[in-house]
Amino acid sequence: MKPLRKAVLPVAGLGTRFLPATKATAKEMLPVVDKPLIQYAIEEARAAGIEQFCLITGRGKTAIVEHFDVAYELEATLRARGKTEALAMLEGTRIEPGALVTVRQQEPLGLGHAIWCARAFIDEDPFAILLPDDLILSDTPCVAQLAEAYRQTGGNVVAVQEVPREEISRYGILATGETHGNLIEVRGLVEKPPPEKAPSALAIIGRYVLLPEVIGHLARFERGAGGEVQLTDAMARLIGHSPFHGLRFEGRRFDCGDKAGFLEAQIAFALKRPDLAPQVRAFLRRYC
Ligand code: UTP
Repeated sequence: MKPLRKAVLPVAGLGTRFLPATKATAKEMLPVVDKPLIQYAIEEARAAGIEQFCLITGRGKTAIVEHFDVAYELEATLRARGKTEALAMLEGTRIEPGALVTVRQQEPLGLGHAIWCARAFIDEDPFAILLPDDLILSDTPCVAQLAEAYRQTGGNVVAVQEVPREEISRYGILATGETHGNLIEVRGLVEKPPPEKAPSALAIIGRYVLLPEVIGHLARFERGAGGEVQLTDAMARLIGHSPFHGLRFEGRRFDCGDKAGFLEAQIAFALKRPDLAPQVRAFLRRYC
């Protein structure tokens, strides 16, 4: 079994649910408290032992790449002014030279197509996928939980959670087999089913560990739900050929691609910060 060292982070979506903010700004650069979504995702991947990162970018996303570059003038100014705390904050934006590559997805043809664009990076290795607009608050980073499940099973693992019936048609949904603790055998996968046709209410959240074989299936460019090349459809073709499990992860997930989910994440993350929590608690009491 090959070790998990690579992560693909697709950021080429249009972010239409967050317009007008995303007209000229990348959704993934929206900050939760004081850190952009993309930085949370990179830090989560690193905490799981990931060493190589591939961003799938598109039009208007260059600020994301800038964010992880060395800001030489800013750093020199901060150093000259003795602003050590501010300098330390930039540490999380440092990526080892050569460890971050970007690939352009010229047209947003779907998540499956975005992942296919990373085929040269993935090569023949297992890889994690993180969708940065899914933000997860947990004791153990979600990708680290998936990585552990990958080490146990040697196969594909996706993060799953139960969703309300009215939300089922927004997700990739599992048909389930045997359950072993938090691991659920995947017997089938269907993207955005109507609730009455859904095999369960267990939905895939934006964290995956996949074997490289999925790329061959993506290369068929079959259009699925919404006319897009769906990752779920390609993953479904892996079932029966390599182990495939859903992991009920520990943690709370916020859909930051959605305005209400994004606002909830602000509150939840601010309340975890000792420097902000008392103030935030006080103003929440005033509003509620
Ligand atoms: P979403 O379904 O959230 O789509 O994509 P979106 O375009 O970002 O946002 P909305 O729905 O229009 O508001 C899930 C993830 O897949 C990436 C997105 O950047 C996001 O991380 N994605 C999606 C791509 O990289 N390329 C695509 O063609 C589609």
